[in-house]
This record gives sequence, C-alpha cells and structure tokens, in this order.
Amino acid sequence: MTEKKLLLLPGDGVGPEIMAEAIKVIDLFNKLKLSNLSYEYADIGGIAIDNHGTPYPEETSMKAGKADCILLGAVGTKKHEKNENKLKPESGLLALRKSLDLYINVRPIFLFDALLESSTIKPEIIKNLDIVIIRELIGGVYFGEPRGFHDGPNRSGFNTMIYSENEVSRISQYAFDLSKKRSSRVTSVDKANVLEASQVWRDAVTKLHKDKYSEIKLDHMYVDNAAMQLIKDPKQFDVILTENLFGDILSDEASMLTGSIGMLPSASLSDINGVYEPIHGSAPDIADKGIVNPIAMILSVAMMFEYSLDNIKVSNIIKNSIENVLKSGVLTKDISLEKEFVSTSEMGDALVEEIRKHV
Ligand code: IPM
Ligand code: MG
Repeated sequence: MTEKKLLLLPGDGVGPEIMAEAIKVIDLFNKLKLSNLSYEYADIGGIAIDNHGTPYPEETSMKAGKADCILLGAVGTKKHEKNENKLKPESGLLALRKSLDLYINVRPIFLFDALLESSTIKPEIIKNLDIVIIRELIGGVYFGEPRGFHDGPNRSGFNTMIYSENEVSRISQYAFDLSKKRSSRVTSVDKANVLEASQVWRDAVTKLHKDKYSEIKLDHMYVDNAAMQLIKDPKQFDVILTENLFGDILSDEASMLTGSIGMLPSASLSDINGVYEPIHGSAPDIADKGIVNPIAMILSVAMMFEYSLDNIKVSNIIKNSIENVLKSGVLTKDISLEKEFVSTSEMGDALVEEIRKHV
C-alpha cells in the first residue's frame, strides 16, 4: 500500500479533543495495515493567530498544498471574536477552502437507528433518514465583493451575494452525478423570488439539467420553504443542492434531525483535494470538559477513506462500528437523553475496541 500524506489541523475549542480521538482510529488502521497514512500537524484559526499572527499561516498553506488529504477539527475562539475580519479564526478556514478551490461541500444527513429517540423530532418522521446536502462552498455572500463598512453616525455593513453561471454549473454537475448513485432526485434550494444571484442560480441549474441530466427528477424550492419542509417531512428530500449561506444554515438545521450536531461529518472537495471536518463548530462553551461527541470527527475520517483514499472497506468498518457502539448504549452527553454518558475519550476507546472486533 503506498503511503499517503495526511495533514491534521486540530484548530480551536473542542477541535484538539476530537482530533485526538480521530488519531486513535487512524493509528489503529495503520497498525492493522489496512491503511498507510503518515501525518503531520499545522495550526489554523485562533491557535494560528496566537502562534503566527495570522489564522492561515504560510507554513499551513504549504503543508496543505503537499498533503493528499486534510482533517480539520474546528475553528473559532471567544478571544479573537472581535478582531477585524482578516484576523478572525474563521478567516483561516475560509482561506483554506478558497486557496484549495474546495467548491464542493458534501454534508450527509443520516440517522443511526440507535439514535431514533435522541432527536427532538418524532421517530416516524426521521426513521431511515438519509439525505445529502451539496453546498457550494467558495462563492456567494461569503466571498462576494464589495464588502465592508460605511462608517459614520449611522454605521452600516454590507456584503455582496454573487454567483456566475459557471460557478453554479460546476457544483450542480457534482450534485446531479451524485444523485445518479442514489435515487436520481435533486432539490435545488434558492431565493429566486427575491434575489438576482438566485435567479442566475436557478437558470443555470435548469439549463444544465435540460442539457445533460434530464433523466433526473429536479425540483426547485425557496429556502424559507425548504427550512420548513426539512422539519415537516425530511424524507421527501434526497440530494439538496444549494448555495453557500443557505447550505450553512440548512445543514445545521438538518443536523438536529439526526439527534445531535455532534454526529455529522462533511467533506470539502475540489477536483483534486479533500478536507474533512465535522459540521459543528469549536463549541468553546464545552471545550476542555471531555464531553464533546467525537463521532462527527470520526465519521469525517470515514468520509476521508471513502473520498480521498479510495478505501471503502475502512470507511464501512468505521461506520458499522459506530452503529454497534451506539446500539450498545455507549453515548456521549449530547445524545444520552440526560441518562448516563461517557466522556469524549471513552467514546474513542469504545470505537477502537469495536473496530478491532471487525478486523
Ligand atoms: C461551517 C461553519 C463555517 C461556515 C464557519 C466556521 C466559517 O459554520 O463549516 O458550516 O460558515 O462555513
Ligand atoms: Mg456552519
């Protein structure tokens, strides 16, 4: 097996704690010779501001450029919250995404059977839930220019939501291709009744569909309605295709269908690179207490094996082990329904034990 280079970016808040559990899993697969990953670390976010004066240091960028794949914990700190934009921890993550051209963000929303009762939504609404949000990740209002402030007595702030046809087409192509491997249904979410950027979005999705993917069932939905439908009847969706900000919001909303935001992984992909991270943030309020759920991070490792390392076997072992551990009643605080719960590292250890049984 050829060696692959992995870059680890633990980041801030709960990031280092969940990264430590992911490494237990990676070390185990290396030891079992089911993978051959060498890894090194770099700073991003608040810790990078502290150590290097910038959230995305040159050294991190160099290492990212050379890595075969990247695992990221989380970024965001209270300490740097009031910094000017380019010195906020989040800018480090956005710079990483932009510089590696990670325009595809894959956020699978699926429910482990064992957690049916952990969601605040009725079991019959979410049983067997399995949808995926494809979020455009390096365009829209997150990156649009001009942006800034007009200072004065009645200070204002402004941003620009902008999408070109090409930007929309390339992310749509990914969503349509993915839907072919699923149930050939795509719902494109926009706000075309109000926003010009969404009108171009809808036109470009429609055109690509007509030209290349007419066999796929395509629906368009306004984002406010989509937010409501996700709670009312989430199983009506299969692939949700949407722009950057809407995808950010809808994926947090959808995570609660699965019991906890601590359960959901993501992959951010370019045509060649992949960064894998949980969708939850740095959660400074629960950091360093040993209670954060490491499963979103470990599922991100599973996605890395599937998407960047072409190792579906390991990916499946991880997912099955998580299912079994949850079934056996080993639960972290967020999914324990106020009953007994295990710590972050006990969950990691339980998973490592379970994986050993599978190989
Ligand atoms: C996410 C996060 C990021 C985003 C933040 C940390 C910049 O919320 O990955 O969903 O808004 O994209
Ligand atoms: Mg988010």
